Amino acid sequence: MRLKRTVTCGQLTTENVNQEVVLNGWIAKNRDHGGVIFLDLRDRYGKTQVTFNPDLDEDMAARAKRLGMEDVIAVKGTVQARPEGNVNPNMPTGSIEVIVSELEVLNEAQPLPFLVSDRESGSEDLRLEYRYLELRTQELQSFMALRSKTYQSARSRLNAEGFMEFETPVLMKSTPEGARDYLVPSRIHKGRFYALPQSPQTYKQLLMIAGYDKYFQIVKCFRDEDLRADRQPEFTQIDIEMSFVDQEDVLGLATRVTRGMFKDILDYELPEVFPTMKYSDAMEMYGSDKPDIRFELPLVEFADYAKKTEFGVFKDNLANGGRIKALVLKNAADKYSRKVTDGLTDWLRTYYGLKGLAFVKMDQSKFSAGISKFFPEDLQAEIVGELDLKHNDILFFVSDTEAKTLQALGALRLELAKRENLIPEGVIKPLFVLDFPLLDWDEDSKRYIAMHHPFTSPHPEDVELMQTDPGKVRARAYDLVINGYEVAGGSIRIHTRDMQSRMFELIGMDEEEAQARFGFLLKAFKYGAPPHGGIAFGFDRLIMILAGTENIRDVIAFPKTTSASSLMDEAPSNVDAQQLKELHIKLIE
Ligand code: AMO
Ligand code: AMP
Repeated sequence: MRLKRTVTCGQLTTENVNQEVVLNGWIAKNRDHGGVIFLDLRDRYGKTQVTFNPDLDEDMAARAKRLGMEDVIAVKGTVQARPEGNVNPNMPTGSIEVIVSELEVLNEAQPLPFLVSDRESGSEDLRLEYRYLELRTQELQSFMALRSKTYQSARSRLNAEGFMEFETPVLMKSTPEGARDYLVPSRIHKGRFYALPQSPQTYKQLLMIAGYDKYFQIVKCFRDEDLRADRQPEFTQIDIEMSFVDQEDVLGLATRVTRGMFKDILDYELPEVFPTMKYSDAMEMYGSDKPDIRFELPLVEFADYAKKTEFGVFKDNLANGGRIKALVLKNAADKYSRKVTDGLTDWLRTYYGLKGLAFVKMDQSKFSAGISKFFPEDLQAEIVGELDLKHNDILFFVSDTEAKTLQALGALRLELAKRENLIPEGVIKPLFVLDFPLLDWDEDSKRYIAMHHPFTSPHPEDVELMQTDPGKVRARAYDLVINGYEVAGGSIRIHTRDMQSRMFELIGMDEEEAQARFGFLLKAFKYGAPPHGGIAFGFDRLIMILAGTENIRDVIAFPKTTSASSLMDEAPSNVDAQQLKELHIKLIE
């Protein structure tokens, strides 16, 4: 190209007046004011108005007039202060323009499928198909810039803490960690497969055994699981592992790194010590293992009251080992018409498998509507007094198995908070959730599975329970929750072969299977494994919070849809018969 830029489109001010400059960029706007052509030239640094005056060069002004949106051009010209009245205070470059003396058209663009200046002008599917155009939008450019800064912040903070950066294999042995593996067939070894890592968990533990006591990696992880607004099939972790540490050391490091990143990126001061909450308390109070503590609205225990009602469903559920809890929404009953409560009920039925959602409203000091007729007067008075209920409050009740009751009310708590605007803006509330159970009972396979992963150490005080009551064993596992998102998770690991074997036994893995799947790790444990532990941040989720968006696709340059496809390059796609043959694969219809 002839005219190479000497400045970017976001940099010129009145300080540069009279300088000769060259700008390269895309056309964001083209206006004709009585023959004078004004173009806004855009690059990722900003926009600059470049002006073609037909009195100076009629031919060039005519060429400029014909240019279209997103054409790529180069211009040479002189910086001038804009005449008073034409100054645009909303643009950093709004007090100058460049009077063009030379124009080079570098490439023309076809008519666009949607407006780069307005993200909402195309459906999400269309924008994902033309992701490179959506990435030109100001919003995505700011998210990508923020993401880039956060990599640097994470690296420099961990580097300052003495951590070494590693890369571990992408083609590894299949060692499922909870989700389904993405598999890669081997051409050379017929019938064998590599797996893409769900996380570098085993490798980072091997690096501890190898003596690299402070490890980190910014790494892609792959999980074939059901996707949601904050889940992608491939996502990025800041993966961390440390030797000779306790839980407090890992949490301390995670706190310092998180504080550092929020300081570097948003200049936001997080507390020096993050609050902590036990898993069991989080479930009881907020119906979630990742509670959003920016607002209160706790779940209220209602069993003792329910026993005194005449509502059969509640009493039956309690008698069968189920639960009943309530949510009290202050001064909002008038907003919850039949239609609204029916809508909430349907939603909870569909997504949480509930049988119903019951409610009562406060009318002066008495219950009304909903299931109020099942509450005798004296019971009403007792509840009103103890829960400090006032006119126009509304109480919601859910009664089901413990798991369903807590989960559904936790979801309702979030939904009501959104509807009632209870979530303060601009506030960031971190929380460590501690003492997760070691095991989770899996109804389908009728056995225990590891709640975090099978390398997680039981709480030392609970080791005995592994024999007698495995479901009660707490793990030395922790999550970092920010504003209701699980941003990081980790644990202190098992580091002896003996304990690791006991854990495998508990999750129903016999010696043979343990050898086949994790033999390499068990072998390594024989050669001096130090006590160790670690944590992994969901990098994309962290960026979501830093960027203030609720859609994980917003912060990933080339994301996948919720059905795990890429609309731009059409992955996954068919491959030709020869490729399959080489891989010894035959498709079954
Ligand atoms: P875990 O499975 O909790 O732990 O993952 C760590 C963090 O990664 C993020 N995350 C995801 N983000 C986007 N899309 C997904 N599908 C997805 N899945 C997980 C979450 C989560 O907190 N090896 C352990 C870490 C350890 O024990 O050190 C692990 O992977 O923010
Ligand atoms: P019914 O007597 O079945 O008409 O239910 C009366 C009200 O209680 C309705 O609003 C139902 O949605 C609600 N309900 C029914 N079962 C439950 C339950 N298990 N937990 C909470 N509310 C319920």
